[in-house]
Amino acid sequence: MQVETLRWANGTLEMIDQRILPAIFKYIAYDSASSVAEGIRSMVVRGAPAIGVAAAYGVALEALRLQGASQADFANGMESGFAVLAQSRPTAVNLFWGMERMRRVWAGMAGQDNYAVAQRLLTEAHEILMEDVRINRAMGAHGAELLPDGARVLTHCNAGALATAGHGTALGVIRSAVEAGKRISVIADETRPFLQGARLTAWEMVQENIPVTLITDNMSGHMMSQSEVDAVVVGTDRVAGNGDVANKIGTYMVAVLAQRHGIPFYVACPLSTIDRSITSGAHIPIEERAADEVTGFRECQWAAQGVKVRNPAFDVTPAELVTALITEKGVVHHPNSERILKLFSD
Ligand code: MRU
Repeated sequence: MQVETLRWANGTLEMIDQRILPAIFKYIAYDSASSVAEGIRSMVVRGAPAIGVAAAYGVALEALRLQGASQADFANGMESGFAVLAQSRPTAVNLFWGMERMRRVWAGMAGQDNYAVAQRLLTEAHEILMEDVRINRAMGAHGAELLPDGARVLTHCNAGALATAGHGTALGVIRSAVEAGKRISVIADETRPFLQGARLTAWEMVQENIPVTLITDNMSGHMMSQSEVDAVVVGTDRVAGNGDVANKIGTYMVAVLAQRHGIPFYVACPLSTIDRSITSGAHIPIEERAADEVTGFRECQWAAQGVKVRNPAFDVTPAELVTALITEKGVVHHPNSERILKLFSD
């Protein structure tokens, strides 16, 4: 089954509501930048590349919505659209990458009427979506070669089709290895507090009959110590110029454990996720989310009322713990500033 995380239908952007998966499979339609921003903020759509695609459609939808306005009102409305999208979530750089790409297209159409601009922006959003799948397939092909036949691969969070326009980044590597005939099994970390592993990664793998075993986040060290993990493959929300990797909270812990046990730690990373404007992970903004995600899940709140809570949604894994970045241009072993620079200059 091909999961269409985002799709264009009836003049709207439809996105699978990932808050309620796997219990309910349902699309929600979006028709403006502010509604898409709310979809990103509330995590109807999540995962760095999917957020980037959604933001691009948010810009296009805003242009379509404003196309009948005066040039001045169109320009002002578009700026408000960009601003509201930029405030939706801070960590995944793909959000800003997607908006920047749309802004360049808009800037390149100075003097043209709003209707032409809106159509061109919509075409660009479609292109970004299709390109994302092509990139994931290229990453998958490179990454599949790193996984031996029979590998038991641990992953954290969901970097699958649901986190992208299709195929996935980390799960894309696993899918491509399976397509290449390798017998791969997946160990999915539950991924507290939003449960992307238990709800989304497990669901994707079960749909495709790729063997998957769910564990809670505090079990990975034990599994590694028992020689039950051969490789770790995760996605990322932003990679700094020196190779430091921001990903879902708990990834750092997994990377430290992987190093302790001599297990390769791979990061599937499209070039759009590399932020060369920052020199290290210390500059990556880490989103803090609401306390009620930690004190319970949905209506069921189990923590003592009044307790102080922290809920950083991401952490940074230093580059020295990363065995390799898997990109659409190839594999970067032991990433550092020099190797990342070379990746963009080749
Ligand atoms: O908070 P989320 O669900 O948006 O976090 C997602 C992740 O951390 C993913 O691992 C990352 O975005 C890569 S997705 C291909």
